[in-house]
Amino acid sequence: MKVLIINGPNINFLGIREKDIYGEKTYEEICSYLYEKARELLLKIDIVQSNIEGEIVNYIQNAYGVYDAIIINPAAYTHYSIAIYDALKAVQIPTIEVHISNVHAREEYRRKSVTAPVCIGQICGFGIYGYVMAMMVFVNMNI
Ligand code: DQA
Repeated sequence: MKVLIINGPNINFLGIREKDIYGEKTYEEICSYLYEKARELLLKIDIVQSNIEGEIVNYIQNAYGVYDAIIINPAAYTHYSIAIYDALKAVQIPTIEVHISNVHAREEYRRKSVTAPVCIGQICGFGIYGYVMAMMVFVNMNI
């Protein structure tokens, strides 16, 4: 099984931005950690990140016929990107939405996800371990 992990805007600034919320680990450290966990789970993964909505749409479209599953943290786009919602709906690739923070315990506007309805489910509030949990879902669920 091949899984594409897509990260949205400002995720590349982890380790720099709001460390009290997102933790101390840099984006590079997180990617290395996820590649290591994927190896343990015998899962092939690729990780991409973009600060640009259209590029995220391109990643999703280009995943069609190439990846079996997507793990996406659309970051701020979660809360308003119809384009990302449409792209996920178009490709019909099983997708899990991940948020590092508990979006339900923060500002009101973070509680709404326009992308979650086209995902199998949403994992939030478990830090970067949420990505590992999502990988475990794909390994253990018959998708
Ligand atoms: C986030 C939550 C979003 O509300 C925020 O805009 C982010 C990160 C998270 O992983 O907790 O950039 O997706």
